Amino acid sequence: MYEILSKQDVAPVSKLFVVSAPEIARKAKPGQFLIVRTDAEGERIPLTIADFDREAGTVTMVFQEVGKTTKQMGKMEAGDVLSDVVGPLGLPSEIEYYGTVLCVGGGVGIAPVYPIARALKAAGNYVISIIGARNVNLLFWEDKMRSVSDELIVCTDDGSYARKALVTEPMKELLGSVRRIDRIWAIGPAIMMKFCTLTSKPFNVPTIVSLNSVMVDGTGMCGACRVEVGGQTRFVCVHGPEFDGHQVNWDLLLSRQRMYLTEEKRATEEYDHECTCGTRAV
Ligand code: FAD
Ligand code: FES
Ligand code: MG
Repeated sequence: MYEILSKQDVAPVSKLFVVSAPEIARKAKPGQFLIVRTDAEGERIPLTIADFDREAGTVTMVFQEVGKTTKQMGKMEAGDVLSDVVGPLGLPSEIEYYGTVLCVGGGVGIAPVYPIARALKAAGNYVISIIGARNVNLLFWEDKMRSVSDELIVCTDDGSYARKALVTEPMKELLGSVRRIDRIWAIGPAIMMKFCTLTSKPFNVPTIVSLNSVMVDGTGMCGACRVEVGGQTRFVCVHGPEFDGHQVNWDLLLSRQRMYLTEEKRATEEYDHECTCGTRAV
């Protein structure tokens, strides 16, 4: 059992849990993820390790309420327990000195970008970060990102806060300027990562993305998270989640993400109905 030690609303539909998980915290590295189950009946969902504290024995997860399980988690409070938290899973980010790096986080992707930017800064890189979201209500961690970046650009798609732009716009300006960018991390919704890689491709700057394919076991056994990278089949849970974004078959990923849309919609509707009727507490 994994106790939720604290809960925070980082944005209206995005919540943060600090969870007691000493064994995971001891081994966690930026770029890795967890598989979480709320209760014995719950489905397994992957969530990135947004932060960890080895001494306190805690891991932090930030999740956006998009469907049944994340809405259910959103109703949990400090003191409640998650029945399973498995991790750290996946390969860590390749943190080393590259020179000037660009860290781009979109929406809930800001959470996984944060520990990566922090580690890149600690490795001596000059870190330029761009964070963005559809609107101000989906934006969070501006201060945290500023604290680990040499420069920070904030934007919203609709202009409700900071610069009105998609993250690809300042990205293109930086890449087209006299400055040399040595490596890019771009994490967020698949469509955002796809356009970030299309933006960086003409400039030939290596661009790392963290793929969010549908996962079940998270250990390479079920094949659910299959993606195509450089013409080869890869399992995101064991070969990733980070890959060379210029090699990813984005259309396949985007279509596989929608594979269970009917079932997911039905599960969410049933859950919402049970909550409205009062037959479900959490
Ligand atoms: P549903 O209605 O069931 O699903 C909504 C959409 O989420 C689906 O259409 C599908 O595209 C995706 N999804 C559903 N089930 C899964 C699954 N088992 N595995 C992967 N994607 C799924 N989200 C965050 O908010 N914060 C994170 O830090 C985060 N990290 C992730 C790290 C990895 C490696 C991966 C693969 C995904 C990550 N996600 C993260 C996405 C998160 O797992 C989904 O949003 C979540 O599973 C949705 O569950 P749901 O029941 O609430 O919604
Ligand atoms: Fe089953 Fe990756 S989630 S192989
Ligand atoms: Mg679900």
